[in-house]
Amino acid sequence: MPRTQVAIVGAGPAGLLLAQLLHLRGIDSVVLERHTRSYVEARIRAGVLEQGSVDLLTKAGLADRLHRERLVHHGLELLFDGVGHHVPLTELAGRELTIYGQHELVTDLVAARLDTGRPLLFEAPAVGIDGLDTDSPVVHYVHNGRTEELHCDFVAGCDGFHGVSRPAAAGLTRYEYEYPYAWLGVLAEVAPSAEELIYASHDRGFALHSMRSPTLTRLYLQVSPDASVSAWPDERVWAELRTRLDRTSGFELADGPIVDKAVTALRSFVVEPMRYRRLFLAGDAAHIVPATGAKGLNLAVVDVAVLASALTRWFADGDAAGLESYSDTCLARVWRVQHFSWWMTSMLHRAPDADPFTRRLQLSQLRYLTSSAAAATSFAENYVGLPFPEGAQ
Ligand code: APR
Ligand code: PHB
Repeated sequence: MPRTQVAIVGAGPAGLLLAQLLHLRGIDSVVLERHTRSYVEARIRAGVLEQGSVDLLTKAGLADRLHRERLVHHGLELLFDGVGHHVPLTELAGRELTIYGQHELVTDLVAARLDTGRPLLFEAPAVGIDGLDTDSPVVHYVHNGRTEELHCDFVAGCDGFHGVSRPAAAGLTRYEYEYPYAWLGVLAEVAPSAEELIYASHDRGFALHSMRSPTLTRLYLQVSPDASVSAWPDERVWAELRTRLDRTSGFELADGPIVDKAVTALRSFVVEPMRYRRLFLAGDAAHIVPATGAKGLNLAVVDVAVLASALTRWFADGDAAGLESYSDTCLARVWRVQHFSWWMTSMLHRAPDADPFTRRLQLSQLRYLTSSAAAATSFAENYVGLPFPEGAQ
C-alpha cells in the first residue's frame, strides 16, 4: 500500500510550495489535487507578492521566471474625492512589492514539482481522512476511477476553503464575517492606464486598477454579493470603472478585450487551532481574508514555511516543538493580517446601507492616511508585509 512521510491535499500555492520546501530537506510527500493541471494553471487569482514571499521563493530556487517577468512596485495610489494620493510604500516601510499572477506562480511550482520526480496527482480528489489519532493517518482518494489509500506520518490540509481536510478535524473553533458586497474581477488585454495600483473609494462603491504585465490590466469593481457575470456586459464594466476611477484631472482609462470575468465573495474566516493531531491546516483551508489587502497568497506562504521547518525538525530528530507551536505562530500573523484586511476593506467599500455619517468617517480616515506620516507608515508596513515569524524559512 502506498506510503509517504507527508500527504499533501491540494495543489494550490500552499500545497505545491510545501512540497518543494520538504523536498529540499529530503522529506518525501505525495500531492493530491482534485482538478486537472490545466485548470489549476489557468485559475486567475490575485497577483501581489510581499518581498518576504519573493525572498523565500528565491531561496528555494522557485523564482527564476518570476524575477524575469515580474513588475516591481514601490508605492500605490489611494483615490477619493476625485484626487489621487501617492503612498510611497518602500520609502515608508523599506520593502518592495512584486506583481506576478498567482496562476503564473502555480505554473512554476507545478513544473518544479514534476522536475523532482516526486508524485503530484491531478484529478485525484481526497474524499476522507482517518487515523488522525494514530501514528499513521490515511488519506482516501479517488484516482482513475478507483478509491485508493495513502498512508503517511502527517497530513497537510492545503485544500482551500472548500476542501475535505478541515471537516476531518474535531474541536476547531470558527471565526467568520461575510461582507455585504463582492468583487467583479476582469482581466483585459490592454496596457495598464497607470504605473501603480489605484485603490478608489467612490460614492458608488470601490474600484481597483491593477495589472499583470505591460499588456494586461486587472480591474475590480465592488458589486452586490448576488451579482452575476451576465448582469455585467463589458460596456457596463468599462462605464462603471470609468466613473469610479474618474478624477478631476489627468486620467484616461484605456479599455480592451476582456478575457476573464468573475465574481468573488469577500469573506474573513479563521479556524483555531490550525491543527488537529497529525493534520496541519495551511493557507485558505485555515483562513480567508478579503482580497482588498492582497494577503491570501502571502499568508499561505508563511504557513507552509513554518510547517516545513517544523516537520524538518521532527523528521530530523523527533523534536516536536515546531509542530506544537505551529498553530500559535501562524495565528499571530493571521490575526494581524485579518485586522488589516478588514480595516482596509471597510475603509474603501460602500456598505449597502451606508449612511452619510459612515461615509464621512471613511473619508476622514482616508485624508488622515494621506496626510499623516505616522498613519501612512502604519498602513505601509502592513501592506508591504510584516517580517516573517521566526521559524519560517
Ligand atoms: N482533494 C484534492 N484537492 C483538493 C480538494 C480535495 N478534496 N479540495 C480542494 N482541493 C484543491 C483545490 O482544487 C485547489 O487547487 O486544493 C487547492 C487549494 O488551493 P487554493 O484554493 O489556491 O488555496 P491555497 O493553496 O491555500 O492558496 C492560498 O491565496 O490568493 C489567495 O485564496 C487565494 O488561492 C489562494 C490562496
Ligand atoms: C490583483 O492584482 O489581483 C490584486 C491587486 C491588489 C489587491 C487585490 C488583487 O488588493
